[in-house]
Amino acid sequence: MIELAPSILSADFARLGEQVRAAGEGGASVIHVDIMDGHFVPNLTIGPPVVKSLRRVTDLPLDCHMMIENPDQFIPAFAEAGVDWMSVHQEAVPHLNRTLHLIKSHDCRAGVVINPATPVETLSEVLDIVDYVLVMSVNPGFGAQQFIPSTLHKMRRLAAIRSQRGLNYRIEVDGGVALATVADVVHAGAEILVAGNAVFGSGDPKKNAEALLKAATEAAFQKV
Ligand code: DX5
Ligand code: ZN
Repeated sequence: MIELAPSILSADFARLGEQVRAAGEGGASVIHVDIMDGHFVPNLTIGPPVVKSLRRVTDLPLDCHMMIENPDQFIPAFAEAGVDWMSVHQEAVPHLNRTLHLIKSHDCRAGVVINPATPVETLSEVLDIVDYVLVMSVNPGFGAQQFIPSTLHKMRRLAAIRSQRGLNYRIEVDGGVALATVADVVHAGAEILVAGNAVFGSGDPKKNAEALLKAATEAAFQKV
């Protein structure tokens, strides 16, 4: 099943509740929350208090993408604030097995993220314990960047490994997902589609979400 996960990074933070509600009305089934620390990525965003407020305005699962060093330090606070899914970067975490189990111990779904320059092979020892793998299709840190097409083969590879090894993680894509790129990512095997600028950048988030989901669903149908 294809799911749309709008990223609030491109939303109007003064009207967050309203914007998240509109995206939900447009068919979004997950809300993607980008956590940046100014160290792992060259940008700063939000922490647990904003997540806690978001939790009060939506019943949709909150998908917390941790672009931070030492995420172990903050996993309990984000879980407490109401996050449902949490993903950490392979490049930021030295003890990935431990960190993924820490996420699970807080009753959250555990995901692992790879940057555009990181090969899928670096994940071979954790694929059996993750609930999802997030393939970055831009270099993390900012919204509205251009999609990097060379990341598509990693989604295909993850789908192939999943069937070869009989695993059941889901494949998420993040960065530059828009009407022009959505069919490519769906054909490559992505199932959870993060989109920031394409949903909240301009116009009506509800209509934008509807249009993206429609294009994604059509692409999934062509794939079969
Ligand atoms: C980038 C973030 C993304 C970002 C995607 O570091 O992880 O979630 O919001 O934004 P768009 O869809 O605009 O590329
Ligand atoms: Zn993200």
